Amino acid sequence: MHKRCARYLLAFVIFSAWTNALSAERIPIIFDTDFVMPPSDDSMALMLALRSPELEILGITTVAGNESVERATSDVLRMLEIAEQEDIPVYVGADMPLVHEKSDFAVQSYGNWYSNEPPPEPPGGFATKIAEQGSAVSFIVDTVMSRPGEVTLVAIGPMTNIAQAIRAEPKFASSVKQLVIMGGAVAALPDGAGNITPNAEFNFWVDPEAAYVALRSGIPIELSPLNVSRKSALDIGWYQKMVAVDTPLTRLLKDTLGRRFEADPERVWLMYDQIAVASIIDPTLVTSERLYVDVNIDHGISYGVSVGGRKQWPGAEGAQQMNVQNDLDWPRFIEMFIERVQR
Ligand code: RIB
Ligand code: CA
Repeated sequence: MHKRCARYLLAFVIFSAWTNALSAERIPIIFDTDFVMPPSDDSMALMLALRSPELEILGITTVAGNESVERATSDVLRMLEIAEQEDIPVYVGADMPLVHEKSDFAVQSYGNWYSNEPPPEPPGGFATKIAEQGSAVSFIVDTVMSRPGEVTLVAIGPMTNIAQAIRAEPKFASSVKQLVIMGGAVAALPDGAGNITPNAEFNFWVDPEAAYVALRSGIPIELSPLNVSRKSALDIGWYQKMVAVDTPLTRLLKDTLGRRFEADPERVWLMYDQIAVASIIDPTLVTSERLYVDVNIDHGISYGVSVGGRKQWPGAEGAQQMNVQNDLDWPRFIEMFIERVQR
């Protein structure tokens, strides 16, 4: 064989082996979200996932939380167009929590999970891409059951879709590889106050019964609660570094987050869902502790409060142990985030 030909052949073989290895190592995930366009954390978490070759997004499922499920779906479809990744399927999920009813407190507090308002036009107009026909729950169950032990669920909104999937198929929980959750606040660890009631975190409080089902399901869980979110601090300096390179994603961040920093240059934003996603890409970014975590589902003053302990305690006999993130390497995390959205 001619020498140059042999060299090309060798290069081709090495390249194929490398790309195969890369695709074989990608972590298959289902991204379950109460999505809203930036500056919401869900959208920044999706940006990170979309630009991270370590992850393979099998599909995105929407749920009512920050806003209605219609708004979550409309915004996520548009985001996929902006990111030029319309090939990723989107499935519409639960429009209401399992049990939690709309109340005066909910209406006066943060979040529009109970809303019936039609979604507003996202930046650049409504997407031409449309959601898939089937339900989010069927997609989650079918995907996991077709690849037992392989699929990681990333749940960064109320846990309604996840709980319904667990209930729909008895072998579902034992077939999920891992469930990564942004939710809860653990008072036994530093920075463990709630953000919607004194002790409850928003995602768990919107659907406490669903969180209860998910946390007791037996699925291996990585919990990213408010304790770790509170180790983040996105200020104007980091924001300026983020938008210093022009890409479709940084342009969107500039148009949305930028306005907030113009109005209040001293403002510091916490990151929530972004940390849950980053911890799958690089687990060394977070420090975790093994705790038993359970959720209160009594409709009283502690509705939706998560409690974590090193040992089980009376009433939490069915609680399971999980990794609970409590610290973050913030500079390394935000540098990775910036590098990814600039791709
Ligand atoms: O408490 C933080 C969680 O609720 C995040 O998932 C964020 O999106 C907010 O709505
Ligand atoms: Ca969220």
